Amino acid sequence: MAKQITNHVQWVGKIDWQLRQFHGNEFSTHRGSSYNSYLVSGSEKTILIDTVWQPFDKEFVARLEETIDLSKIDAIVMNHNEVDHSGALPELLRKIPDTPVYCTKKGEAILRGMYHQDWNFVNVKTGDKLSLGDSSLTFIEATMLHWPDTMFSYFDGDGGILFSNDGFGQHFATESLYDDLQDLSELLYEAEKYYVNILNPYNMMAARKVKEILAMNLPLSLICPSHGVIWRNNISKIIECYQLWSSNYQRNQVTILYDTMWNSTRTMAEQIAAGIREVDQDVCVKLFNVANTDKNDILTEVARAKCVLVGSPTVNNGYTYAVAGILEMIRGLKFKNKKAAAFGSYGWGGEAVKMINAELQEAGFEILNEGLRCQWVPNQEAIEQARQFGKEIAKTINM
Ligand code: FEO
Repeated sequence: MAKQITNHVQWVGKIDWQLRQFHGNEFSTHRGSSYNSYLVSGSEKTILIDTVWQPFDKEFVARLEETIDLSKIDAIVMNHNEVDHSGALPELLRKIPDTPVYCTKKGEAILRGMYHQDWNFVNVKTGDKLSLGDSSLTFIEATMLHWPDTMFSYFDGDGGILFSNDGFGQHFATESLYDDLQDLSELLYEAEKYYVNILNPYNMMAARKVKEILAMNLPLSLICPSHGVIWRNNISKIIECYQLWSSNYQRNQVTILYDTMWNSTRTMAEQIAAGIREVDQDVCVKLFNVANTDKNDILTEVARAKCVLVGSPTVNNGYTYAVAGILEMIRGLKFKNKKAAAFGSYGWGGEAVKMINAELQEAGFEILNEGLRCQWVPNQEAIEQARQFGKEIAKTINM
């Protein structure tokens, strides 16, 4: 059912309560998600901003038809064309084939590449306007936030509304669409997890875009992303969070990631944590077994850390499957301004520690030392070494 947001804006999206994985299996969505689509009506024109994911295309179009005669939609604005937002476009345009589709030049190329249709494309760039009569939309390119085609649209009616697509979004299903009707800590966690897992590689662009938008001094009563809640009472808070997360973000935290086969590497992880805490009682130390902890939650804890320690037993001359997976995701997210070290147990060979350090270095981390290895099961001496290793880490990261 459509939900009236302001005098001129209706929400016509889809809430996906049961979604638990997004981007295939790349992104966990413990709290579901939504694909937000908005109908904006001025005195002369009505436009639709974004659609929904393809599995909901028929439902979306049927519900839209209950809200408006589709022939009265004067234009469709596609802020970003990934399938979760453009998936219902083919179904909709089968019914209103000549309707102009406003998007960036890159957006047109992506839509053509995905749907192979010669739709009525209108390319727009930063500063271009679409008049709705008594109000208008202004387009703001937001390249690489997080795709080359991404743009935001600013509506100058109803006190000013920024339609930001993935920006400021969260995978968060709720029937009550506004930020102030949710548990704020849950919501901000999902916004942070979304930022880290989707936008972190593009930190510089995100920081610049937030600065650019603030410098425009636009009246802003709502930020309407295309996933999750509408920001109404916490606009400054989410903007501050974006400024924080996009600028070499870290807390006073050490994140210890490990995998273990027979608990030797786990024992090392726990003793290293104890050593850190002996030296520094103020630092937050968190341990995660990467084989049984959600990968996207782990990455959020990596983003928060000033130092990341990664441990794996040596198996088949390398590290474990789970450690390999998380190292690859860490590499891709391009974390900056973080220290790291490796550790792990072994029976013979013991190559894993050196290999993990090499991966972390390649990923841009400052490697603190050659790492710590322990053969077979830690005895009292190895336990002491692990504690000492933790103490040295604590001293180094506070220098
Ligand atoms: Fe929500 Fe990049 O699509």
